[in-house]
Amino acid sequence: MSARNTERSFGTVTRAFHWLTALLILTAMPLGIIANRLPFDTAEALAFKADLFSVHKTIGIAAFLLGLARILWALAERHPAPLHPDRKPELTLAGAVHWVLYISLVAVPLSGWVHHAAVTGFAPILWPFGQTLPFVPQSETVAAMAGATHWVFTKLMGLAILLHVLGALKHHLIDKDATLVRMLRGTTAPDQPKHARRTATPLAAALLVYVAGAGFAYMMTPTTTVIVAAATATHPQTSGNWVVQDGTLKFSVRQMGAEVTGSFANWAADIRFVETPTDGRHGAVTVTIDTASLTIGSVTKQAQEPEFFDIASHPTATFTAAILPVPTGYVADGSLTLRGMEQPVALPFTLEISGDEARMSGTVTLDRRDFDMGGSYGDEASVGFAVVVAVELVAERVQ
Ligand code: HEM
Ligand code: HEM
Repeated sequence: MSARNTERSFGTVTRAFHWLTALLILTAMPLGIIANRLPFDTAEALAFKADLFSVHKTIGIAAFLLGLARILWALAERHPAPLHPDRKPELTLAGAVHWVLYISLVAVPLSGWVHHAAVTGFAPILWPFGQTLPFVPQSETVAAMAGATHWVFTKLMGLAILLHVLGALKHHLIDKDATLVRMLRGTTAPDQPKHARRTATPLAAALLVYVAGAGFAYMMTPTTTVIVAAATATHPQTSGNWVVQDGTLKFSVRQMGAEVTGSFANWAADIRFVETPTDGRHGAVTVTIDTASLTIGSVTKQAQEPEFFDIASHPTATFTAAILPVPTGYVADGSLTLRGMEQPVALPFTLEISGDEARMSGTVTLDRRDFDMGGSYGDEASVGFAVVVAVELVAERVQ
């Protein structure tokens, strides 16, 4: 049995590639569909859904890498002659379906991977090579586009697999020829009259199908949430002698073993600060945070629910602190009221003042249990206890 294809048979390498990719894809497909439809109303249900997605993604990436190797191999190999070279329309259809399948082997997992890399959170890929992709920004827009693309492309692939399998079964059961057995067992098919292989029409048809699919995915990409979040990002000043010009309020937490970062788009800071301390204080700060402006990748909805930030009952969180000097810079020493619970919090920060502009940067690690957050997530397997809050801002002196 030859490793290479011949004019009348598929070699062992081609057949191994074919059936292994088929196995991975036919496993990834139902996993994706089931995982997508599973509920996530309890901690256990969410953890199970995330586990299924992790397996789906990991198998999908294995299919992608194998698919690439398979395509390289197919480029170097001859294709056995068709068994019915006279049936031109059937050959064109089979060829177009094969091309759609080849394109799908790359486009389907890649769109899923880009979606995963662009959105922070939820189910990690089960491997040690990181969760991001070069050139793919963490962006809601990119994630929404890639998500819609993955959805449409999986439908194209599913349809192509259906036609492909129906074709193989038709050959086997109706034509009773060797098409299926030569892919299954490497059987050498009977000799056929020579023919000129036509790839242009099937390839053009497959590309057209994919371009139409990409256009459809673009049209169905949801944009509203992104526009709302971007348009309302505000940090108005309430009073005080410094006005925030720009800033970020982020937090990160380990989720399913991978770090996810969230942020609040809307918050207001009332800063009173003087360089020379009086009675050991440089001033005071009050930050009011609009909890509904929270986003944390694919788990934004869960984070907003009563289990976590409970934005419906507690639309604002407040941090009130005195600004004190410490050897490393400053500390905002006060309390944070979150979910209606007040806890002492000391946020160390550095400050660079040049003229009337100040750049502030600080981080503090909180424990979500202090605010009774994620009560049903009793251990750190799904959501870590430590939440690292990072604040950066540029403010301008006004008085
Ligand atoms: C599910 C994922 C599958 C993918 C991505 C896939 C992909 C492909 C591709 C790209 C080819 C063309 C190979 C070439 O260039 O010569 C091919 C050939 C073939 N596939 Fe599949 N296939 C899948 C599943 C199946 C299944 C489930 C069957 C059987 C029921 C099947 C039966 C065949 C047969 C018989 C051929 C040879 C056709 C010929 O002689 O030209 N495939 N497959
Ligand atoms: C050949 C490989 C793959 C196949 C066949 C596949 C197939 C699917 C299917 C059928 C769905 C469900 C769509 C629906 O509900 O109608 C899905 C969803 C999903 N897949 Fe894949 N997938 C593959 C690879 C990947 C990879 C590599 C990743 C990420 C690294 C990924 C991430 C996702 C995500 C995040 C969803 C849910 C999308 C959403 O919430 O809208 N997939 N996939």
